[in-house]
Amino acid sequence: MKLADNKATLSFSNGSPSVDLPVYQGNVGPDVVDIRKLYAQTGMFTYDPGFLSTASCQSAITYIDGDKGELLYRGYPIEQLATNCDFMETCHLLLYGELPNPTQKADFTKLVTNHTMVNEQMQFFLRGFRRDAHPMAIMTGLVGALSAFYHDSTDITNPQHREIAAIRLIAKMPTLVAMAYKYTIGQPYMYPKNNLSYAGNFLHMMFATPCEEYVVSPVLERALDRIFTLHADHEQNASTSTVRLCGSSGTNPFAAIAAGVACLWGPAHGGANEACLNMLTDIQKMGGVAKVGEFMEKVKDKNSGVKLMGFGHRVYKNYDPRAKLMQETCKEVLAELGLENDPLFKLAMALEKIALEDDYFVSRKLYPNVDFYSGIVQRAIGIPTPLFTAVFALARTSGWIAQLNEMIGDPEYKIGRPRQLFTGSEKRDVKPIATR
Ligand code: SDX
Repeated sequence: MKLADNKATLSFSNGSPSVDLPVYQGNVGPDVVDIRKLYAQTGMFTYDPGFLSTASCQSAITYIDGDKGELLYRGYPIEQLATNCDFMETCHLLLYGELPNPTQKADFTKLVTNHTMVNEQMQFFLRGFRRDAHPMAIMTGLVGALSAFYHDSTDITNPQHREIAAIRLIAKMPTLVAMAYKYTIGQPYMYPKNNLSYAGNFLHMMFATPCEEYVVSPVLERALDRIFTLHADHEQNASTSTVRLCGSSGTNPFAAIAAGVACLWGPAHGGANEACLNMLTDIQKMGGVAKVGEFMEKVKDKNSGVKLMGFGHRVYKNYDPRAKLMQETCKEVLAELGLENDPLFKLAMALEKIALEDDYFVSRKLYPNVDFYSGIVQRAIGIPTPLFTAVFALARTSGWIAQLNEMIGDPEYKIGRPRQLFTGSEKRDVKPIATR
């Protein structure tokens, strides 16, 4: 970051001395006012719950222009990456800053492929769960449990160790997600196959059984690979910020990523794809498109607590570019599977059309986000609804670990320790219980 020739002056109406604050510029996007010395100089904190106006870090990985609806991974537009690259190239780009050449891609893919197996002991963690456990409950446990196998072989101050931890996490997430799925349906786990692509291997571990050959559909393989790319990273979203804050204590990468999995589960975040599919299914049950108007009235009624899941975003005040690409992928997969008339897809498109013409949504700049169509295409691929967020976590692990390694690789990083505006009781003495 570079010092701007501008600066901020904070003055107080009570006569307290004003304070000059430096302004820094990034390469693109909003400048920042550096408030790191504010408390020392004024004895005051800033107040920004939800971090609506707060940059928590400097990063060179992902840039979002919310007004334009633009998403760049290391400068490359998501539309170009989703069309011209695959997820392995995207992982390489996020981790190392550049798209790989053919040799680098082959080496990176081989490295990931050779780390897809998990320790045989991992399977015994699953036995503690009920068969109907939510896959994200299982994933939160399994990812944290990975640290039991590697925390003493991962010195996070060692760049090579940070790199191998990244490879292990990217490589093992599909295996763990497929194990979580197989466990809930009572089928045997399928081991990774090194002759398959990253997405093909995931499909095989998910849907193959020891009883017969499973042939990976190239269309589903390509669709899933694109879904991974679309979910790979997204600046300082809630789960990435969780991973950074967790990792800032110096904990091992597996524990920090487990924290990200837990945060992503929430319906306001990565859990929205599952919530959106359930919302569409409920509307379909009530009568489908004919009931959309009634449903929208509930959404606009603040007291209903009903939200249009898959819509709205803290940063995008325009169409989420990932939603457009996801809708295209939806059309491709449904056409390939002869499901062009999928009622949920038609319902989703009707909902989108009505919302984008309704002042409630237009005035609040609410557009479809990445979660609006992702459930429909995952469902068409055969992925069960409760597993959608686990698939999101699988893909986002590449962004999480790239962001974590970027933070730890910065010699200036400190443990994150926000302060507060205290509104509780002032000091008071404990009274003996008999007198309370
Ligand atoms: C992801 O941060 C990221 O980058 C996340 C993500 C990533 O890749 O990491 O993009 C992935 O999490 C996408 C978002 C998935 N979540 C959902 O689809 C859940 C539904 N969306 C909302 O919960 C909401 O839009 C959020 C949480 C996504 C954003 O919330 P904000 O930024 O805090 O906005 P807000 O709640 O203050 O909303 C502003 C207004 C409010 O109305 P008013 O108080 O102004 O009258 O818009 C309304 C909200 O009630 N609103 C919605 C709505 N989203 C916002 N009303 C109905 N339906 C919605 N979906």
